[in-house]
Amino acid sequence: MSHASRGACRVGPGPARRALASRALVRALAGTALLALPPATALAQDANLARSLAATCANCHGTNGNARGDMKPLAGMPADKLLAMLADFRSGNQPATIMHQISKGYSEEQLKLVAAYFAAQTPPAAK
Ligand code: HEC
Repeated sequence: MSHASRGACRVGPGPARRALASRALVRALAGTALLALPPATALAQDANLARSLAATCANCHGTNGNARGDMKPLAGMPADKLLAMLADFRSGNQPATIMHQISKGYSEEQLKLVAAYFAAQTPPAAK
């Protein structure tokens, strides 16, 4: 029985997919919270939102953009360069396997927050 159920788990949506789904939920909730809060806390909320959004990239690009292995690190990349790359993924000008879909899943405003967040991180080489 345990064999059968383990097998069933393996053909399910998989951890990455489920993580993406739950992150989408977190994003939705974060958006709701932001609207409900008074303007005075908007800046702190922006920082938290930026970190939450950037965390959705961590599965592939590493924690705080410090990628491991072959993946290119995002940490310390200038925000305008990051935004330009993301815009190219969104428009399809830059060939990609997954980043076309991913970049289209965020608003311009969210991508700006994410880009600013990664730009402010320490790149691995500088550690
Ligand atoms: C499911 C894995 C995955 C996730 C999640 C992901 N990426 Fe990517 N990213 C890739 C892959 C793979 C590439 C290489 C291009 C391709 O094949 O799509 C890439 C390339 C990039 C590049 C180009 C890097 C370079 O130097 O060429 C940028 C910028 C980027 N991603 C930003 C992001 C941001 C910002 C997020 C979060 C909003 C994110 N990625 C989430 C897999 C991912």
